[in-house]
Amino acid sequence: MNQRIVHHPVLGSLDAGKSLHFRFNGTTYPAYEGETIAAALLASGVRTLRVHEEKGTPRGIYCNIGHCYECRVTVDGVPTVRACMTLVQDGMEVTAGVVLPTPLKKGGHSQ
Ligand code: FES
Repeated sequence: MNQRIVHHPVLGSLDAGKSLHFRFNGTTYPAYEGETIAAALLASGVRTLRVHEEKGTPRGIYCNIGHCYECRVTVDGVPTVRACMTLVQDGMEVTAGVVLPTPLKKGGHSQ
């Protein structure tokens, strides 16, 4: 089943032009020019864009219109980028968030 998002409620319709490639957590994925990071990953079957900073539970696309920040990733070293609103650039490096230490909370861990 094709899970490609071909119409974004804010960014408009995907014309599926030039093919691009980008990396997510070290793996190379295809995309089309004009496609968001979230849409390109979903089209490749990737639904987890990050994990909850404390609990480690998976997070992905929720609103897909830039409101909820559930899809935040790091892009070329810039954190807290909304994958659902950011267009893929050829050669872009994207990484998911990780569980962060919570040393002040009972049961938390420190480094
Ligand atoms: S999914 Fe809500 S801001 Fe991206």
